[in-house]
Amino acid sequence: GRVAVILGGTSAEREISLRSGAQVLQGLLNAGVDAFAIDLGGDGQEPIAQLLEARFDRAFLILHGRGGEDGTIQGVLEMMGKPYTGSGVAASALGMDKLRSKQLWQGAGLPTPAFAILDDAVELTEVEQRLGYPMMVKPVHEGSSIGMSKVRNLDELKAAYASAREYDRCVLAEQWVNGPEFTIALLAGQALPVIRLETPHDFYDFDAKYQAGDTHYHFDTGLDADKAAALQALALTAFETAGCRGWGRVDAMMDADGQFQLLEVNTAPGMTDHSLVPMAAREAGLSFEALVLQILDTVEG
Ligand code: DAL
Ligand code: MG
Repeated sequence: GRVAVILGGTSAEREISLRSGAQVLQGLLNAGVDAFAIDLGGDGQEPIAQLLEARFDRAFLILHGRGGEDGTIQGVLEMMGKPYTGSGVAASALGMDKLRSKQLWQGAGLPTPAFAILDDAVELTEVEQRLGYPMMVKPVHEGSSIGMSKVRNLDELKAAYASAREYDRCVLAEQWVNGPEFTIALLAGQALPVIRLETPHDFYDFDAKYQAGDTHYHFDTGLDADKAAALQALALTAFETAGCRGWGRVDAMMDADGQFQLLEVNTAPGMTDHSLVPMAAREAGLSFEALVLQILDTVEG
């Protein structure tokens, strides 16, 4: 059947989604799939009308951020009876919400860094006493590190809160974890090889992700085989505990005690030429074409 690659959207990650989606479309076409792209909300179009007008049998969802990775489009496609790649409504919504992901993992006994919710009623001095410096400040519903800052004192904490608030009503402060940072791609019930990230930036920020070209990606993770397998198993458990399916990526860090700490799950992770899932797939011997076909194969239709 015909595959609609749904890309673009209107979130802060629109440009990344356009890049991911162009790669996905090309990969599917190279693999002989009858595929075309829908730039959802592009040129101010009405997204529901676009979906209703398009003729397709399955959707490959590669929208990042709110309005696409958060269960909303998934709900529309459910109502239309169209199968789509990736997680369903509830898991997509949860994955877009870093706070509730952490609460769910905590409840399931899975490790995630200590945190505080920031709002105008919260005394920032209490937060600093509880979490200590440095800490990470994050909008709860963003991706690609948008609106995130590392802070080292109260002035920076105030400024970081204000800047995260520009993206989201809901803001999170997280205890600093020294790292290293790891990412684990999940595909069809399996974890792909672990990648260790190394950046000269303060953290793996937007620039380090897509622009600077100074991030190093290591398959030599520095972990022994047991530890790497434990991290893959933790990532898969975190993914499944959140109710995610199909494919995705879990980000985690190692703390000073050598314990892994879960940061977040991405239910429609980047597929740009700088992105991590294609890198992990290549390491596992999967070409980009084979990767997009396998993702598509997780969906009936
Ligand atoms: N949110 C970006 C696209 C990622 O996780 O890769
Ligand atoms: Mg994310």
